[in-house]
Amino acid sequence: MSNRTFTMIKPDAVANGHIGGILNMINAAGFRIVAMKMTQLSAAKAGEFYAVHKERPFYGELVEFMSSGHIVAAILEKDNAVEDFRKLIGATNPANAEEGTIRKKYAESIGRNAVHGSDSDENAAIEGDFFFSGLEKF
Ligand code: CMP
Repeated sequence: MSNRTFTMIKPDAVANGHIGGILNMINAAGFRIVAMKMTQLSAAKAGEFYAVHKERPFYGELVEFMSSGHIVAAILEKDNAVEDFRKLIGATNPANAEEGTIRKKYAESIGRNAVHGSDSDENAAIEGDFFFSGLEKF
């Protein structure tokens, strides 16, 4: 079990002014921010990041949305980080997200769902490396 996970605050939440609110929830849940940056993905980079979903019917929409505005990428640290962070963000579809979760509070729809969280330790490492160099991950 690794103690790190990766997150992105997605373009909907950034555009709606929720960076601060989401970071507060992340801090209040006991995660340490190891690395963080605000950037915008090109369609090519968003496609690469979400390559595992290439065959899904929503892939084109996902890539278009994720490259439509600024995102905040971050590496987070806490015991049991991947699992605990997925509990904090809630179900992918906000209609199914529990009270107290980030998606319940901030997500608009299954596509515009405010935040991404890695689904495994392996993907957390791959996704963190996608955005941050070794020097940035202290
Ligand atoms: P995320 O955790 O970032 O990983 C893949 C994303 O695909 C997911 O969040 C959703 O935002 C998006 N996604 C999943 N299902 C759908 C869908 N049916 N329509 C649009 N986007 C989807």
